[in-house]
Amino acid sequence: MTLQLGIFLSGTGSNFRAIRAATLDGRLDARIRLVISNKSEAPGLTFAAEHGIPTLFESKELRASADHAAILLDILHRHEVDFIALCGYMLLVPSRIVQTYTGRILNIHPALLPAFGGKGMYGHHVHEAVIRSGTKFSGATVHLVDEEYDRGPIVMQDIVPIDDGDTPESLAAKVLRVEHRIYPNALQMFASGRIGVNGLRTFLQP
Ligand code: GAR
Repeated sequence: MTLQLGIFLSGTGSNFRAIRAATLDGRLDARIRLVISNKSEAPGLTFAAEHGIPTLFESKELRASADHAAILLDILHRHEVDFIALCGYMLLVPSRIVQTYTGRILNIHPALLPAFGGKGMYGHHVHEAVIRSGTKFSGATVHLVDEEYDRGPIVMQDIVPIDDGDTPESLAAKVLRVEHRIYPNALQMFASGRIGVNGLRTFLQP
């Protein structure tokens, strides 16, 4: 089944671009229908517009509106989005959207959940906390989204070793390379319809 993807992002959008590349070279059976960003200047939003993908800027006024979730849902439906990928989206998705798309929203997190997740754990904060902790490995996690930060069932993870000289910046770069590899693969598991969920566990169906 071809996923009709909606992408939410707040920044660079390198994961979005990795997903798009995978749709173009046949690794991922998906079509990107819409890119939404809460930052009007987000490079990911600009990239989408430059490549003919419909975009929506989710302004502060829109977020503050009582109809925020309804407006977003309407736009998602009008663009026939049936699956959402959060790609460095730094806000909580409104619960009405999470409920409507239950089991059909993925997020990527730049650490090995359930460690180093939760409110305030995003971007460089994550890598700083990881290095401070003294752990020898970090990595990336793709997980289903529920109504709390970084808590839904884990779909895919991979690790990177932390070297003595690593800084938050060098670790972020290593983790990003893993993110770009696993996010399209995780989405493809949904496109192929082979993923099952049991509580917090996901599994591949035969
Ligand atoms: C990625 O490292 C992603 O894991 C992280 O933001 C970065 C976005 O990069 N997401 C979070 O921290 C969410 N809690 P990108 O804009 O280049 O894809």
